[in-house]
Amino acid sequence: MAGQIPKQFIDELLARTDIVELIDQRVPLKKAGRNYAACCPFHSEKSPSFTVSPDKQFYHCFGCGAHGNAISFMMEFEQLEFVEAIEELAQLHHLEVPREKGSGRARPAAQADDYQLMQQAASYYQQQLQQHPDSPKVRDYIAKRGLSDKTVADFALGYAPESWDGLLKQLSPVNQRALRDQLVELRLINRNDNGREYDFFRDRLMFPIRDKRGRVIAFGGRVLGDGTPKYLNSPESRLFHKGRELYGLYEVRQQPGHVEQILVVEGYMDVVALAEHDIRFAVACLGTATTSDHMHTLFRYTPKVVCCYDGDRAGRDAAWRALQSALPQLKDGVELNFVFLPDGEDPDSLVQQEGKDAFLQRIAKAMPLNQYFFEHLLQEHDPATDAGKSALSVKAAELIKQIPSEYYRDSLSDKLANLLGKSRERTKTAATRAPNRVKPAAIKITPMRRAIGLLLQNPNLVNVMPDAPELADADIPGMALLLSLQQRLQHNPQLTTAQLIEQWRDLPEHSFLMTLASWEHQIEPEQLSQEFIDTFHFIEDQYLQKQLDELAIRAKLNQLSKAEWHKYNLLLQALKSKKPKLAT
Ligand code: UTP
Ligand code: MN
Repeated sequence: MAGQIPKQFIDELLARTDIVELIDQRVPLKKAGRNYAACCPFHSEKSPSFTVSPDKQFYHCFGCGAHGNAISFMMEFEQLEFVEAIEELAQLHHLEVPREKGSGRARPAAQADDYQLMQQAASYYQQQLQQHPDSPKVRDYIAKRGLSDKTVADFALGYAPESWDGLLKQLSPVNQRALRDQLVELRLINRNDNGREYDFFRDRLMFPIRDKRGRVIAFGGRVLGDGTPKYLNSPESRLFHKGRELYGLYEVRQQPGHVEQILVVEGYMDVVALAEHDIRFAVACLGTATTSDHMHTLFRYTPKVVCCYDGDRAGRDAAWRALQSALPQLKDGVELNFVFLPDGEDPDSLVQQEGKDAFLQRIAKAMPLNQYFFEHLLQEHDPATDAGKSALSVKAAELIKQIPSEYYRDSLSDKLANLLGKSRERTKTAATRAPNRVKPAAIKITPMRRAIGLLLQNPNLVNVMPDAPELADADIPGMALLLSLQQRLQHNPQLTTAQLIEQWRDLPEHSFLMTLASWEHQIEPEQLSQEFIDTFHFIEDQYLQKQLDELAIRAKLNQLSKAEWHKYNLLLQALKSKKPKLAT
């Protein structure tokens, strides 16, 4: 485990990042008063309810309740883990992410080295493709498959020599236990029951698998002839999760401009051969079915996904599974199409036979989701019989209701009603209950929440916050949080809302603070200070009054100690001088 990222660094990162600019590059924003607005990227909608505040450095959607700072946005939008989001933001500012010392376990900062080791492995394979005595046969094979040097370089293809320890010796010339363990964990090296260590990939053409940011996280290796298995893939590791990664996505994203569509194909060779023919928008799933995570990722980068599968039984099954995984990701404005290739062909063989233009024609003529949806269901259920009709109706409704897009739900429901010979309304109601993200219930704004919310949203209010030492350890819900905000702001008055909230990220108060940060208080800017002070005094008075009431009861029973009598009198005086305020 790597050391923690210092809090100061996270603070600095948020200070340097302008959330408006960051979001605008991904979701074009329009100015709307003091804020910026857009249609929400996190749920499907037609009119903009997603707002970004430059002052608070915070976004909030009034439709689905999504909210957060720049880090949260990167996590949600780019589907990154917390540390990855930090790394991505750091990269934008050309900053190195520092790590605290001492918190790491056996191997400090190993996580960072993981990527370096994977890259070293990829470089070694690339080098062997040029230098190894056996490399001519590999380059022959590559040529036979029609790949140019440029494509080989673009995809960083390489060769793992037929050797038990070529990579092992390269990466760990002497036996350092910790490093060897790491290589085994990264699945570059196998260790058998006798403790013998040897290269995982031997005598294979190597395809490095890169993550969205271009870091090598795994490999696929193809035999050079007819051996089995044809492809050997890195097993899952802490860097590599098959269900999330797509081969070729990084390369697609390297293309200039907007990604108009992404083609999903079955194999590594398909992606690479298409790129050879200048079709540079294909990705492949890595020996797994297309998952919902994949679809989610794809629709982040493009509004149009075309699934391209073999025409055989296996291809049809894969397409139907892809369709099912895609349903929950179908927002308004996206498009999902299907291409079925002639039996026995794949994109690689076809593009070689018929060339770029003919292949693009096939994609242009792809079958839309609406059509494929019923084509498939009608093969399984015969609408001429009552049994078939009812099964079709149940099955279709079950699938349709997973779709967030109203447009797709309506049009599929219409078509279903048509097939069943019913009027539309009945089928529609069943299917149109959208699984959209539920808007969180607005919270009740108590005086304490009002004080916290105002301070959080307007950190400069710390300057007018009254001193009230008697409240420091008062048992009032929320007081500790309010004082903690005050303390942090006194320490660093420049903190924005977003930076403040960040300090609570892993704590239970985090979501509560996020909600208060997006609370719409309707108070005019010039009234803010007074409102905040009044609120604070109200809380203070309420607390003093409560104490006084308790003491008063016990005073009547003659139960007060001397110290309590003293306190009772002080409270009486204090509240008398404040009385007018309590009325408000
Ligand atoms: P294919 O068998 O269709 O291979 O497997 P391909 O892509 O056409 O490769 P070539 O043209 O024969 O070289 C499609 C994908 O399924 C996975 C790989 O990801 C491959 O790209 N696969 C296939 C494996 O993981 N292991 C295998 O043994 C075979
Ligand atoms: Mn093939």
